Amino acid sequence: MFHGMRGSMAKPASAFVCQSCGTTHSKWTGRCDGCGAWNSIVEESREAPASGAKGQALPKGRATRLHALKGDTASPPRIETGISELDRVAGGGFVPGSAVLIGGDPGIGKSTLLLQALASLARKGERVIYVSGEEAIAQVRLRAQRLGLDDAPVLLAAETNTSDIIATLNEDAVPAIVVIDSIQTLWSPVIEAAPGTVSQLKAGSEALVRFAKQKGACILLVGHVTKDGQIAGPKVVEHLVDAVLYFEGDRGHQFRILRAVKNRFGPTDEIGVFEMSDGGLREVTNPSRLFMGSSERPSPGTAVFAGMEGTRPLLVEVQALVSPSPLGTPRRTAVGWDSNRLAMILAVLDARAGVSLAQHDVYLNVAGGLRLKEPAADLAVAAALLSSMSDTLIPHGTVLFGEIALSGNIRPVGQTESRLKEAQKLGLGDAVIAEQGETPVIKGLAIRHMTTVADLVAWVASRSKGLRRIA
Ligand code: TYD
Ligand code: MG
Repeated sequence: MFHGMRGSMAKPASAFVCQSCGTTHSKWTGRCDGCGAWNSIVEESREAPASGAKGQALPKGRATRLHALKGDTASPPRIETGISELDRVAGGGFVPGSAVLIGGDPGIGKSTLLLQALASLARKGERVIYVSGEEAIAQVRLRAQRLGLDDAPVLLAAETNTSDIIATLNEDAVPAIVVIDSIQTLWSPVIEAAPGTVSQLKAGSEALVRFAKQKGACILLVGHVTKDGQIAGPKVVEHLVDAVLYFEGDRGHQFRILRAVKNRFGPTDEIGVFEMSDGGLREVTNPSRLFMGSSERPSPGTAVFAGMEGTRPLLVEVQALVSPSPLGTPRRTAVGWDSNRLAMILAVLDARAGVSLAQHDVYLNVAGGLRLKEPAADLAVAAALLSSMSDTLIPHGTVLFGEIALSGNIRPVGQTESRLKEAQKLGLGDAVIAEQGETPVIKGLAIRHMTTVADLVAWVASRSKGLRRIA
């Protein structure tokens, strides 16, 4: 790293680097060709090649030992924080010698979560260090006090100079976990670029990742996400680290979801669910209860979907509001669900079941600020739409899942049994799913099979009290 410290520097002094994606341009432009971001290009000093000038041969190397594919494969040891939602997303705890990027919007709770994790480890006797580049020691202490963690022997440093941070980490016994909060504050005087630029971020992160590999400490790098949903310099940092976790959630809701998007030591579809409270982040071990909404007073336009998040089933309430539109082009708004997918379901209902919503505004919302990505939610979305349109209740205690094809057919989806079991566990008594070969039998759960969206429309219409007829 810190290239160009030695040797002559004949190269032109600067390059224009996009702060969002890291693309280098030969001159300044208003919009980055790489990612399309506006005003993201900053002039930075160009890094000279690591050693030697152009055309010079590489130094002679040493032969490395070759190994067989088969051999000892002890699974890596894990550092468990004791916060099980966090440990599970990390793949069963953090791996010594690894580097993990934890990204999220400012104010989402990254610092809070990591301080809680470190405090829990420190209480178990692990040596853990929290390096804050954003808050002064007094601020971190105040937060710890508020969270009731100030008795935990977490070691604090307020430092942003990368070399000083590494010198500090090298000073005593190797720490189990080090938190760097945040990579955007890292800087080094040998890099001729302002703090927060891609060059600084990259150099600092690289040095810390190297420290982790050499010493066997686990480094957690905190990174803020910019407005368009990207960590500044994501390409630069994401490929350096072993795992990337995103902490997301709607600030209007108290729920927070930790999601692994890359993990060399575990699955990438696990989520951890937390609730932001006065006492910091609390684990939500039964998230279904939380996302199912208030089931005491069901209303037309709601349907319960049984989704899968990683290995865990999750029941979520899907809410729809369909109302006659005063506009020439009716509104379609989807929160927590892909709006293209909503348009497709509306088109299929129209073409295959004769239910036209062309004159209606349609609003769709997923309860609790959750984002659904599975096509398996199609059936619940369609049911919520029909329910709202006809002012008919989907019977209380019914769960729905199935993918809707363009043909109007309802397709079975994977992990049917886990989904049904979760519904039964939460006291639901009915399930509406696709016609499929073998349906698992779950005690106490009545299962209704449907083949096409026309079946769904007929089912909802049969329950309608004639308030507003569909089709
Ligand atoms: P923080 O961890 O500082 O976010 P980040 O590091 O991702 O920027 O979280 C700050 C927010 O969390 C702040 O808006 C206040 C809120 N909060 C609580 O609601 N309860 C708490 O106990 C704490 C510590 C913070
Ligand atoms: Mg913070």
